[in-house]
Amino acid sequence: MKPPAPPIPARFTVHAPGRVNLIGEHTDYNAGFVLPMAIERGVSIAITRRADDACTFRSASEPGVATFDLGAPLTPGRTDWTRYPAGVIAGYRRLGWSIPGFDAAVTADLPAGGGLSSSAALEVATATAVETLCGRSLKPLERALLCQRAEHEFAGVPCGIMDQCAVACGRAGHALLIDCRSHEIRAVPFGDGDVSLLVVNSGVRHSLDDGEYARRRAECESAAARLGCRSLRDVTPEGWAACRDALPDRERRRARHVLTENERTLAFVTALGRRDWPAAGRLMRDSHASLRDDYEVSCRELDLLYELASDMPGVFGCRMTGGGFGGCAIALVSSAAADATAEAIRRGYRDATGIDAVMFTTAAAAGPRIETR
Ligand code: GLA
Repeated sequence: MKPPAPPIPARFTVHAPGRVNLIGEHTDYNAGFVLPMAIERGVSIAITRRADDACTFRSASEPGVATFDLGAPLTPGRTDWTRYPAGVIAGYRRLGWSIPGFDAAVTADLPAGGGLSSSAALEVATATAVETLCGRSLKPLERALLCQRAEHEFAGVPCGIMDQCAVACGRAGHALLIDCRSHEIRAVPFGDGDVSLLVVNSGVRHSLDDGEYARRRAECESAAARLGCRSLRDVTPEGWAACRDALPDRERRRARHVLTENERTLAFVTALGRRDWPAAGRLMRDSHASLRDDYEVSCRELDLLYELASDMPGVFGCRMTGGGFGGCAIALVSSAAADATAEAIRRGYRDATGIDAVMFTTAAAAGPRIETR
């Protein structure tokens, strides 16, 4: 006999983490490999059930209250932050779930537009809240796919699966090697007292809905088609050597980034297994250079952080993380030197740009959690 379902709480709080990507950038929508990890900061939503069919969302950092009618169809069209929860709620309605009314109050300790997946964290937190309210749940990967679709349809960003998957499937003390074709996930231990991961926010706001992200994706698809492949994941070293010169220069560079980044991601996992930090750091630096030169998604401030950090003795490697065009850089640093390194980066960056960079170290964190209040 099945045990009785636990009662649905009237008040609870859900928390979903942000993420950084250790390596494997702009490979997810090319069916390749990524290695993100959930971080110790994220988005929390305090939920209170209502007796009617309405749902409200308010945020500690934005003015106003958004109200959705859970009895009517939700369609895209919002342009502010509430498009993310709207897209997620629409996803569960599409599955035929009937969602009871609720009030949601959102708080976050992730910088919005900082490239740490604040939108994926908001989506996955909303999804976790809806599932709790309905007393049933999807598997973490299905939840991630529903949230990715919300991002496509309600935010207009043709993102890959990395962010939602990292947030929904996060595991404490582990990075996740995700095969973005099969969606197979391997948890890779990442947590060693000797090294720390420093996250540095450039303070330059990153936005993926201005067309540049979609353009990169289209360039990769065009390159794959010219190479006679379904996606860049299918290009073999022999095929590449034989055909690369037939590609237009820009597509050749985009494809070269993706091909080499997939190799670097797998090599990074091997380096982690051996605790070979210098090798891991070299791969991070090569990744940054490839994103800067071939993929052209870095910016002056991220390059500056990369250069500052790369010159410091306690730093194994540094790179931009996430979609780019601003946002954060990450540095793999020796724990003994972490504080001094952070201070030196802060000073050098402030001197060059006038920006006081927000920075923090983080361990790999778990996925979403629910607390009853
Ligand atoms: C954004 C997208 C991800 C991924 C990264 C780049 O974060 O949401 O799907 O493509 O950019 O690696």
